[in-house]
Amino acid sequence: MPARDLVGRETYMRRLVERLSDGNHVLVAGPRRIGKTSIILEVLRRLRRRGALIGYVDCLGATDIRGLGERLVDAVLENVSGVERSFEQAKAIAAGMRPSVKVKYEHIELALQLARETNAQRFFEGALDLPRTLAARTGKRVVVAFDEFQAAGRLGPRVFDVMRTRFQAQKGVAYAFLGSEEGILEQLFSEKGRAFYRFAVPIDLAEAGGHRFGIAPDDWLTYLRDKFAEKKIAIDDTSVDRLLDATGGHPQDTMQVCAALYYLMRDAAQRVVTADLLAIAYEQALRELERPFALHWSELGKQKYLQLVATRVAQGAVLFASETTPAVPRPEVLRALESLSARGLVTRLGRGRYEFVEPMFGEYVRRVAGNEAGIVPKR
Ligand SMILES: Nc1ncnc2c1ncn2[C@@H]1O[C@H](COP(=O)(O)OP(=O)(O)OP(=O)(O)O)[C@@H](O)[C@H]1O
Ligand SMILES: [Mg+2]
Repeated sequence: MPARDLVGRETYMRRLVERLSDGNHVLVAGPRRIGKTSIILEVLRRLRRRGALIGYVDCLGATDIRGLGERLVDAVLENVSGVERSFEQAKAIAAGMRPSVKVKYEHIELALQLARETNAQRFFEGALDLPRTLAARTGKRVVVAFDEFQAAGRLGPRVFDVMRTRFQAQKGVAYAFLGSEEGILEQLFSEKGRAFYRFAVPIDLAEAGGHRFGIAPDDWLTYLRDKFAEKKIAIDDTSVDRLLDATGGHPQDTMQVCAALYYLMRDAAQRVVTADLLAIAYEQALRELERPFALHWSELGKQKYLQLVATRVAQGAVLFASETTPAVPRPEVLRALESLSARGLVTRLGRGRYEFVEPMFGEYVRRVAGNEAGIVPKR
């Protein structure tokens, strides 16, 4: 995705580039689908252009510490070998076999000893030391990003402690930690006694510049007007306002509605955005977002009362027990609200008043709840 299509993140990305170039570790935590991964990938590209060596590791896909270690080794080696997944080749060479693709010995030499390590714990620790070795050998700054970092903690009881210990004194390496489970990350990085206490500088994304999702409405306005103008489509300020009202300015939701709007207008050979076209595009986008929404929704099903309280918030219904709502004990409602806030899903407006951070997810919840009760979803 080209940087110019990342709306309203320029200042934020520059800040990350500066911090990481200076050798600071950073923490980027934020709700789902607000652009964390897109941002860090662009930041890493910029750092590489500045001469740094980089690595990107998604912790979510690893099933054990060896798997996580291998991902890191692959990411580090790619800087030297220029190919993905070169650790496979290192293992082949270490075992006296021929690598399946052309790699030079010096490209994987860094990891040859590791390739022979059979003990998972020692392998993991060795992998964690690799960025530092690379920095020392090349004299270059190494920047490694761990995406969905909270997931690493599920791979074993002391994973975070081990990582912190290995990272502690690494010269020449800067780490970026990203994740969507803000609650867990906040604890890990800001509670005394936790493994990553004060290890990284948190750089707020969700509220950057005091804006919702950290993106200034003016940035959306400029971007959308220009983008549609390129396609010879006119969109006026009122339509942009209406669009942002409907999406709350959530990055992915907004882009999804815009894409639907664009295709709709192209197919219908329309040149001017109207409220009706916008409404159709919104419905289309809501259908397209059903998958991630259904996922969030089922996640909420894992904890008692979360779906119920979420539904009440979405419907703007009474939150606490009354004659018409099923009795959920007040402490349970409060606990659920706290959990929904920690997940970045709802925000408190005032005493007993909450709303969905992401209006389209709120709409999804209203419709799901409506269907369950056998009510025709409202348009
Ligand atoms: N600032 C932005 N402007 C335009 N589109 C954006 C912006 N931020 C994110 N997007 C789009 O939203 C989608 C989700 O972005 P991305 O995967 O980077 O978010 P994330 O926070 O990493 O999500 P997840 O929580 O699922 O890991 C992508 O399709 C991306 O292109
Ligand atoms: Mg992501």
